[in-house]
Amino acid sequence: MQKVLVTGASGFIGSTLVEKLIKEGYDVTAGIRKSSSKKYLQDTRIKFLDLPYNNPKELEKILKEENYNTIFHLAGLTKAKRKEDFYKINFGYVKSLVDALSGLETKLIFFSSFAAHGPGEEKTFCECRVEDLNEPNTEYGKAKLQAEEYIRENFKGKYIILRPTGVYGPRETDYFVYFQTINNHLEPYLGFTAQRLTFVYIDDLVDLSILAMNSDVSQKTYFVSDGKLYLDTEFAQITKKVLNTWTIKLKFPLFIVKWISSFMEFAGKIAGKSFTLNKDKFNILKARNWNCGIEDLRKDLYYDPKIDLEKGVEKTIAWYKQEKWLK
Ligand SMILES: NC(=O)c1ccc[n+]([C@@H]2O[C@H](COP(=O)([O-])OP(=O)(O)OC[C@H]3O[C@@H](n4cnc5c(N)ncnc54)[C@H](OP(=O)(O)O)[C@@H]3O)[C@@H](O)[C@H]2O)c1
Repeated sequence: MQKVLVTGASGFIGSTLVEKLIKEGYDVTAGIRKSSSKKYLQDTRIKFLDLPYNNPKELEKILKEENYNTIFHLAGLTKAKRKEDFYKINFGYVKSLVDALSGLETKLIFFSSFAAHGPGEEKTFCECRVEDLNEPNTEYGKAKLQAEEYIRENFKGKYIILRPTGVYGPRETDYFVYFQTINNHLEPYLGFTAQRLTFVYIDDLVDLSILAMNSDVSQKTYFVSDGKLYLDTEFAQITKKVLNTWTIKLKFPLFIVKWISSFMEFAGKIAGKSFTLNKDKFNILKARNWNCGIEDLRKDLYYDPKIDLEKGVEKTIAWYKQEKWLK
């Protein structure tokens, strides 16, 4: 039985991945910290481990003893109070892991992000590709790129780097804010040019992660989406249809959103919190082209996403309603 470790196992993607791996019979350890929630990690077959990323000797010792076949590294910050935290966690922990795995046979599947590449150009709106020059426009993306580069330069074992675009589905809390807004009859648009968006439904991403683990393919980086491109208006249309509701359209000029984002970041610093809207998030929201290609994933890993946006939003909203997150 393959022995696997999932770091960031308490999170949205990590917990769903753990659930699927357990269901498929893998020997699964959930990498979480003492403060992490175990709400979605209730299966008694799950083992737990608090990885000492800041103690290289101890980390190396544990990873040597455990000798995992595969580590899925998902632990990371998607928002942070201070930009240094992105580099400390999203780059620093990857470096610790790579160094500690030196000489072992463990395969590493690293969850990077589309943000490591940065948005695409906004004239032809062509697809972003792995061969492009990476130009991340956020601290989050810069730290993810730094981590990718460290893996590419230093990891001698087998690895695959995944760059998911926006991931949504049950348990997710950021797109949830958007669904909630539409449910409250407001349909917000940021800026006046349509945004090209890509998405991947959680189950497709989890299935792909398992394909990546079991594949002989290695030393490769891939964007991950459902293979389709959507306009922001289509996303709203689908959400309204699924919620069976009406909305008032609100179009905000980008300079106002920028101002609000800066204010939220300032408020977050005072309150010691990281809010969903901040300066880094603004740079993601202002970009108009989040179009990426997945042909290489289809060819190399036989990835065949099953859930498009309409089906995925239906499943997600059904879950939010069942869990009483949405009325
Ligand atoms: N969701 C997306 O749309 C998306 C898109 C592209 C890439 N990704 C990447 O996929 C990964 C998982 O994302 P997600 O959406 O599942 O995020 P999430 O729900 O916020 O989960 C993040 C996980 O990382 C852990 N973590 C955060 N800081 C940590 C630290 N200092 N030490 C140890 N663990 C720490 C969290 O533990 P606690 O529960 O204890 O906080 C949690 O388990 C992230 O690396 C993210 O960058 C996500």
